[in-house]
Amino acid sequence: MNKHLLSINDLSAEEAIEILNTASELAKISDGPMKKLPTLRGRTVVNLFFEDSTRTRISFESAAKRLSADVINFSAKGSSVSKGESLKDTAQTLQAMGADAVVIRHGASGAAQRLADSGWISASVINAGDGTHEHPTQALLDAYTIRSKFPEFNRSFKGLRVAIVGDILHSRVARSNVLLLTKLGATVTLVAPPTLIPVGVVDWNVKVSYDLDSTLKDIDVLMMLRVQSERMANSFFPSEREYSRGYGLDITRLSALNPNAIVMHPGPMNRGLEISAESADSHKSVVLAQVSNGVLVRMAVLYQLLGGAALTGEVSV
Ligand code: CP
Repeated sequence: MNKHLLSINDLSAEEAIEILNTASELAKISDGPMKKLPTLRGRTVVNLFFEDSTRTRISFESAAKRLSADVINFSAKGSSVSKGESLKDTAQTLQAMGADAVVIRHGASGAAQRLADSGWISASVINAGDGTHEHPTQALLDAYTIRSKFPEFNRSFKGLRVAIVGDILHSRVARSNVLLLTKLGATVTLVAPPTLIPVGVVDWNVKVSYDLDSTLKDIDVLMMLRVQSERMANSFFPSEREYSRGYGLDITRLSALNPNAIVMHPGPMNRGLEISAESADSHKSVVLAQVSNGVLVRMAVLYQLLGGAALTGEVSV
């Protein structure tokens, strides 16, 4: 595996499956009496967050601590970034504190790549979401969640049908998921109003539909996306009501899904806009499993990148 995880393109299908398998091993160990492993003892993981996060930041912190790494949490709000400190000076300050891995979230697409290529730091860089570009660990935890619900797709997603619905244009989650799901062999359909489909989608190896209702009966996985109003300088649909009517998941659409189909959402959810409360809380929803699996998958990523000691439920002294 590469030193950094910046994009799903950094992983072969085999390497992605290896991360999912490592997460499965970690799940078995975590079910035992030993919740904390000594694997990354003496290593330091820095969470460098220039954009808000709940799930990703907390799960990286939890993952690092469960592998016995030391964790430094850095949030741009309340730091010297608000006094104008640059990414370079911030990164070098954290390097001076002995970071072995830097988990970065930034509003600018390419920020994680810039940090990795800069030579400013020697640590491994993990992209925790850069602008509208990519969010690779979200795609990995989504794949892990899908695999846990459909064990028949253990080594390949060939034959699995996934629809990703909503604000594709602004979604780093959609980009990373398209790359990973198609790499693993799934058939992916993007469903959105034309204004929220990126121009370059013809090169993405996916189907595109503007009609959610005609898509529902032919899929195994329905992945709803958050409408990212904070990234919308212009109006991309007439009104929230119109959007919900065309592309929101309500109870009628939920009941049109196959009996075994699952509903995913990376969070945070706009309840009542892209997903109704009944759908988010339904038995088909795996939203909370996605959150739990995020810790396991991020443990696996840290373990693989930092070359941790062999996985074992026993503590060495
Ligand atoms: N899915 C996700 O990235 O959520 P957060 O923004 O809360 O980290």
